[in-house]
Parts: sequence; structure tokens; C-alpha cells
Amino acid sequence: MLFGKKPLSEIWVGATDCHSHILPGVDDGVADMETSLKILAAYEKLQIREVWCTPHIMEDVPNKTEDLKDRFAELKAAYQGPVRLNLAAEYMMDGLFLDRLEQDDLLTHGHEGNALLVETSYFTPPMDLHGILKTVKGKGYYPILAHPERYLYMKMNDYAPLKEMGVYFQLNLASLAGAYGEDALKKAQKLLKDKAYNFIGSDIHRYRQIQIWDFRIPKKWMQKVQEIGL
Ligand SMILES: [Fe+2]
Repeated sequence: MLFGKKPLSEIWVGATDCHSHILPGVDDGVADMETSLKILAAYEKLQIREVWCTPHIMEDVPNKTEDLKDRFAELKAAYQGPVRLNLAAEYMMDGLFLDRLEQDDLLTHGHEGNALLVETSYFTPPMDLHGILKTVKGKGYYPILAHPERYLYMKMNDYAPLKEMGVYFQLNLASLAGAYGEDALKKAQKLLKDKAYNFIGSDIHRYRQIQIWDFRIPKKWMQKVQEIGL
């Protein structure tokens, strides 16, 4: 049995997974359609209402917008269940991103089509991070920073200026299970306490990651996420 004897967490009931790598065969996420469908079947059991496929786009993984749209159409054709599927992307804030921004060649996030899910390297910020984020906003998009708790170079006092700029934050749920180490865990707990997060995501790359959500996140933090209603 997939989830063992423990009761399923209610954390995902009716929720939207804003960040996932379940579009198959396009990045370091899910490799084949069969696994994508298996994950979506598990999502149905968790009663996830909606999921955003957010494949990587970066200089090292230069996925083209049209190719991702084609692949997404294949996923939509293959999946007939109740989980609503959406396509966006996870943009590394590198030179390729700035080119795509300039050309308006973008896979936007959110049903209003005016958000962009962005990330940086875990180790070093891009040159002029704030300048890039201002450019994004100047083009009429609001940036959603993927998993801010995971950036090793960011300190707790780096977050407030980003929030003041109007950057939205997306929590990786597995951060609360310590899946990315102690630093990410502590930052996630603090940001959650500060009500700094706007969205929640799985950032799922592999089927087995689903188990982390049920078995390894302390109840206290699960409740906190639910309280905030992410
Ligand atoms: Fe991701």
C-alpha cells in the first residue's frame, strides 16, 4: 500500500502544488510519462486540486517554450483525471532568462499570467539580483522566488528587502522535513513563523519524494502551513 497505515496528511487537500518537475523527459525531473501518471494518481489520493508543471529553463537546460508546450499537451492528453494541470517554468535568473524576458518569450505562472517562478544558484546570487527582480517587475510580472530557504548565501536579514520589493516566496514542503539540510529547515521554520510565504510547492523530481510529506514533517509545522492556508 502506497502510504502505509498512517493516515494521509490533510495538508494537500484542495491545495495547489505550485512547483513540480513532473513534465516528463525535459529536465532532471521525472523521466517518463508512466512515472508522471503514477505521481498524478498519488496526487489524486492526497486530493491535490491543481499542479503547476515548472520545468527548468536555464543556460544549462535551455528548454524552448514551444517544446515545453508540446510536451505539456502530451501530458494533458495522457492524463484524464481530476487534478488540474498547468504549465509554467522555473527560470534560473541567468543570461538566458534575461533574453527570454526581453523577447517576452515566457511561460508565466498563475492564472492571471503575470507571475514568473524564478530561482538562483544555491551557492551564489547572480550579479545584481535586486536589479534583475526590478526588471521583472518593470516588465509587469511579479516574481515568485522558488524555495528561498534553500539558498545557502542568503541570511535571514536578506529576506525582508526582497519582500519589500514585492517578491513572493514559495516554500518547498520537503524543507520542513529537513530534506535539504539543517540550514534550509531553520530558515523555512522562521519564514513560516514570519508568514513570509505566499505559495507552497513540492519541487517533486522523483516518485519516492511523496512519502516525505506524510512521514517526516513534524505535525506542528504541518499545522502551521495549514493555518496560513498556503
Ligand atoms: Fe524546482
